[in-house]
Amino acid sequence: MSFLKISENVFWIGKVDDRKVPFHRLILERGTTYNSYLLLTDKPTVIDTVDLMYGKEYMDNLAKLIDPQEIEYIVINHVEPDHAGALPALAAKAKKAKIVSTALGAALLKDMFKLHNREFIVVSDGDTLDIGGEVLQFFETPYLHTEETMITYSTEDRVLYPCDLFSTHIATYELFNDLAEETEYLEDFKVYYNLIMSPHRPYVRDMLDKIKDLDIKMIAPSHGYILRKDPGKFIKIYDEMSYLKPTDKKVLIVYSTMTGNTTKIAQRLSEGLKAVGVESEIFNLKNTDWEELKAKISDCDGLLVGSSTKYGDMVGAVEEFLKSLQDGDFKGKPAAAFGSYGWSGEAIMYIEDYLKEAGFKVINQRYMIAGQGVDTPILPLRIKFVKEDGLEKADTAGRVFGEQVLVNA
Ligand SMILES: Cc1cc2nc3c(=O)[nH]c(=O)nc-3n(C[C@H](O)[C@H](O)[C@H](O)COP(=O)(O)O)c2cc1C
Ligand SMILES: [Fe+2]
Ligand SMILES: [Fe+2]
Repeated sequence: MSFLKISENVFWIGKVDDRKVPFHRLILERGTTYNSYLLLTDKPTVIDTVDLMYGKEYMDNLAKLIDPQEIEYIVINHVEPDHAGALPALAAKAKKAKIVSTALGAALLKDMFKLHNREFIVVSDGDTLDIGGEVLQFFETPYLHTEETMITYSTEDRVLYPCDLFSTHIATYELFNDLAEETEYLEDFKVYYNLIMSPHRPYVRDMLDKIKDLDIKMIAPSHGYILRKDPGKFIKIYDEMSYLKPTDKKVLIVYSTMTGNTTKIAQRLSEGLKAVGVESEIFNLKNTDWEELKAKISDCDGLLVGSSTKYGDMVGAVEEFLKSLQDGDFKGKPAAAFGSYGWSGEAIMYIEDYLKEAGFKVINQRYMIAGQGVDTPILPLRIKFVKEDGLEKADTAGRVFGEQVLVNA
């Protein structure tokens, strides 16, 4: 299968990958597809490409439909190489094509594929592009799946091209959801959401808000089935799965301080948690009954431990307290470190060491990169002294930690 007409002027030009596909340390047992689309308008446009491995095959197929020299635009919604991987092959042949992506996407593509000399069109939320007989509209959807991501909507055809969103990892040759039994793919569609999208739940809510007034006739994602039948149903599934339901999750915030800066951080963390529906209780170790506190930690759903740094070490009773946790059973419970500091902030690292030793699942940069592809380390939360921008960071960190508690099974 090399191409397939999906509407009057639109062709699927993707690749069905029916191997057991290794991806993000998982094996996609049912394979996947890389869906790329060619819009044969007056200014022919390609939306996303295919995996890096299939560049040559992709170009051979594309040449059956169009002379690549005629392509005017290449829209790259998401830079990960399962979609942008064939861009170098395509750009080499589609010599006059301008590459359309977000600002962050353009910067990444230039560096990754050495496209510094190429002409880019940088788009942001709501921007449109007339491709002759069709107008594309773009919406930034950060973290769905990675930070630079956007989605594309064709306003005439009313097709949404959301790249990783609304995808399913299934190597289907049927391609349209109405050609398959729902039982064939619905479960995998939800599993995909849980794995790839749920860690970024607030961004899913933002995305749903951006597309809520669009009239969507078909969803043409970049993996698995094209949702031609009942696209609204799949949007509703995302809505239901990303909706913040009331929970009884509870986090404990435990800390020591010298001059009260870390106290302020603890309070703002608590507010951030509350904003995502997670209750918390704050304990200054100076005036806390430890036995009572330890019992509460066994019952809680997450733990935040804070200390400022004094002569390169933790302050107050934090170390003694962390030592007392070493014989408990906290395996898999989310925890993170925080604190105010002046210039080095060693205390925060030592807290992490103890939390890891005691079996907690430490939410830190390593965890965020491996679990979510996020490279901005908000946790552990390190704040220089304490000012309003630091406290805003604490609010965000509370939300991020709260989300982790919510998704922790
Ligand atoms: C005696 C003393 C020693 C300090 N030593 C360090 C240090 O080794 N490294 C560092 O990053 N900050 C150091 N600081 C800065 C504090 O960590 C910083 O002022 C912090 O905001 C205090 O927070 P707190 O009010 O929660 O205790 C020191 C401060 C004091 C007063
Ligand atoms: Fe992706
Ligand atoms: Fe993908």
